[in-house]
Amino acid sequence: VVPTPQWRPRYHFTPEKNWTNDPNGLLFLNGEFQLYYQHNPFENKWGHMSWGHATSKDLIQWNYLPVAIPEVVTKDTTTWIYSGSAVVDKNNTSGFGTTEKPPIVAIFTADQPKQHKESQFIAYSNDNGMSYKMYSGNPVIDLNKSDFRDPNVFWSEQSKQWVMTVSMVNEHMVRFYGSKDLKTWTKLSDFGPAGYTKNGWECPSLLPLTVDDDPKKIKWVLFVSSGGDHGPLIQYFVGDFDGTTFKDDNNGEKVLPVDYGDAFYAAIAWRDAPQNKKILLGWIQDGRKETYPWKGQMSIPHDLSLRTTDNGLRLRQLPSSIATQNLSKYATGKTLLKKNLKIEDTRISLNKERPFSGNSYWIDAEFDVSKAKKTGFYIVENPDVTKNIIVAYDSEKKQLYVDCGNAEAGNKSRENLIQAAPMKDENGIIKIQILVDNSSLEVFGNDGEKVISTMIYPDINATSLWVFTEGKSVLKNLKLWDFSQK
Ligand code: FRU
Repeated sequence: VVPTPQWRPRYHFTPEKNWTNDPNGLLFLNGEFQLYYQHNPFENKWGHMSWGHATSKDLIQWNYLPVAIPEVVTKDTTTWIYSGSAVVDKNNTSGFGTTEKPPIVAIFTADQPKQHKESQFIAYSNDNGMSYKMYSGNPVIDLNKSDFRDPNVFWSEQSKQWVMTVSMVNEHMVRFYGSKDLKTWTKLSDFGPAGYTKNGWECPSLLPLTVDDDPKKIKWVLFVSSGGDHGPLIQYFVGDFDGTTFKDDNNGEKVLPVDYGDAFYAAIAWRDAPQNKKILLGWIQDGRKETYPWKGQMSIPHDLSLRTTDNGLRLRQLPSSIATQNLSKYATGKTLLKKNLKIEDTRISLNKERPFSGNSYWIDAEFDVSKAKKTGFYIVENPDVTKNIIVAYDSEKKQLYVDCGNAEAGNKSRENLIQAAPMKDENGIIKIQILVDNSSLEVFGNDGEKVISTMIYPDINATSLWVFTEGKSVLKNLKLWDFSQK
């Protein structure tokens, strides 16, 4: 196996070694973000599913901790620890701790491959989430099903109980359960089938989000992951929740994608972050190339809210301000700044002014595109200018897009060479944030109105970066933080 340090992200989470997929059990505890994650502790591929563990103060730099919940293997049964959530049981409703020392309770799917069975288990921690003991009364929910998974639990003020969303995978339904003590669960309601139903539903979660930055205006958003037509898809539904039942405003008529790329999946949120933020974290996945000695990474965390649009309430996602506040601390060299640069039918190199020309950087750009056809960047271009990826805005099609047609040809499936999201300029102005981190690319358009996330595998010397315009544009503002090293 060939090590691939050139593809190791610098400001995104990757396991120190071996496999990860979904984020699990996101908690904010004593000033630290806890991240558990689907992990194979032994191999660089999916298997031996366990909960890996890491913590971070700023959502950029992560400390690796020992596996928190390992697989359980006995003579007859292998129990894999699939995706789920964790809660701080402040009032010790479960009785697994005390009110002075509240337990942390993890709620997850136990997958038993030999029995073809999935049921919901709980485990508790009395040492701040470092290690967990299995509850002796497991399973806590068992429907004798093979595909029933990914419980996500929160405290409902409306119905004064714990509420769980869990996926009836093949029925394309989210089942809601309620509990007073996290051990005994009663069915509350079902949601679905609705929206996108061509593939199984996984990783449901329901979040209260503020509308138009008004802390008093709350709507509920239900997220569901499922394989889409061109790779993974997470769809969302906006509606109301009364403590037992979720009602979708759109009756599931439209499919609303969280991300327009081909890689963002299985996202869940930190619900208890400072300033009442809801912060979404997804797994960025792609099976096209091996990376070693790790495989899989997490997205940049997204601060979530809703905004009113002509089409109704829509999700707004920005790179979490907790991460962005700390960016300059990790940047290498000076931040590159530009203002009011006129560009007409040309490309301008941004490499000369960058301290190091690697592929870990972050761009915030604002353009006037009123006289442009296409405006944006060529990234990860090789020295002989034959390969690159285009991240740009198409003023005619009114689309934000990522075009991998000139990159790694043959690697991406044909449908995924161009990934695009509908987006309008505002009085001729568009904003683009581009997060390039060695093997991931995340593009946020117009202050988080649209997001495109994908994986990239640039050659080691393909580090050129250009700004370009077809037609005329003005680059009104550019900031570039570099995280590449010498
Ligand atoms: C989503 C998923 C979950 C499951 C986990 C297993 O990627 O399939 O439904 O719990 O991965 O690793």
